[in-house]
Amino acid sequence: MKLAVVGGGSTYTPELVDGFARLRDTLPVTELVLIDPDQGRLELVGALARRILARQGHPGRVTWTADLDAGVDGADAVLLQLRVGGQAARQQDETWPLECGCVGQETTGAGGLAKALRTVPVVLDIAERVRRRSPDAWIVDFTNPVGIVTRALLAAGHRAVGLCNVAIGFQRKFAHLLGVAPEEVALEHVGLNHLTWERSVTVGGEDVLPRLIAEHGDAVAADLRMPRSVLERLGAVPSYYLRYFYGHDEVVRELRTKPSRAAEVAAMERQLLALYADPALAEKPALLAKRGGAFYSEAAVALTASLLRDTGDVQVVNTLNNGTLPFLPDDAVIEVPAAVDAGGAHPLPVRPLEPLYAGLVANVTAYEHLALEAALAGGRDRVFRALLAHPLVGQFDHADRLTDALLAHNREHLAWA
Ligand code: G6P
Ligand code: MN
Repeated sequence: MKLAVVGGGSTYTPELVDGFARLRDTLPVTELVLIDPDQGRLELVGALARRILARQGHPGRVTWTADLDAGVDGADAVLLQLRVGGQAARQQDETWPLECGCVGQETTGAGGLAKALRTVPVVLDIAERVRRRSPDAWIVDFTNPVGIVTRALLAAGHRAVGLCNVAIGFQRKFAHLLGVAPEEVALEHVGLNHLTWERSVTVGGEDVLPRLIAEHGDAVAADLRMPRSVLERLGAVPSYYLRYFYGHDEVVRELRTKPSRAAEVAAMERQLLALYADPALAEKPALLAKRGGAFYSEAAVALTASLLRDTGDVQVVNTLNNGTLPFLPDDAVIEVPAAVDAGGAHPLPVRPLEPLYAGLVANVTAYEHLALEAALAGGRDRVFRALLAHPLVGQFDHADRLTDALLAHNREHLAWA
């Protein structure tokens, strides 16, 4: 089984490789190709990947290349984990929206739109080249904003599934709090990528969510940085990305006074790369746990295994709505539990969504539609319309100013600007 990782020079890669090593019975990888334009990073990360597999006695071969076409040739699955413009571009996304009093975040709001505009054309080009070299390969997209990028891939007819670690993170957290194994915990997870709620948490056929909130509400709320009363009053657990909506103004005040997450991550990446350069290191360093991608490797291994080994088991993924949430268009991409087999992801039926959530989901879906149009066709007016439709922007005057700021900060990444 050959896997290719685009963005393989990422500091996250050791996390992924550690997962391949530990979970080799689930996903027997024989060849792993890391693909990245940054040769220096490839050497560092690639050599560490080899040491991690060797230390764990894994027979898989690791190679690396800057040549995408050669790297994806003959791959069974291609994982996308790239970041166009690196942490420097993220730093911008997190900063300029604040000038209008809007949240600055890499996947949500105006910053998220900037990321989508930079990323969609790059990912579509990669996917096209994958299709030419390995027409049967599955594309697993972890590249943000996952909802919009997956929608772009599926609209262009690619064999793609979008992946995020929020659901698996909740599953692991809840299992820990409840004292059961993660596999025993099934989430009723619904919404869009980075806009989801856990409506029930089932263990042994029983919904334990009310008990979880009653007994562990403080611990869950602390992780989300939301008041416990939010969980109690919703009777559901929102993802921490809902804080950008439910606590928008508070977050803006906070972001104005502290260093950006991009700056923190950039500092961590420098430290990680220094650690990776040590030839004695043969495991993922503890520092990596401070990144948001915890359990990314477990989720990626499980999803890839289901696609390549036709297991039909249930995982939370990003895929086409196709009537699952009847109030959304069929071609919207939603994030829900789905049975995953060699034919792709098939969403399980979803109970009717309460208006409390459905309104926001419909609103952001419409934004994602307009964001994709802007990413594909370009043009100031399309950017403006996407911003006007976003519930965290909405005002005419803000949308105008943010459009100018977005274009000014992203010219080098936007062919049409
Ligand atoms: C979570 C999200 C990812 C996101 C990451 C950011 O894992 O699901 O989509 O990329 O957090 O983490 P970072 O350490 O880069 O802030
Ligand atoms: Mn995510």
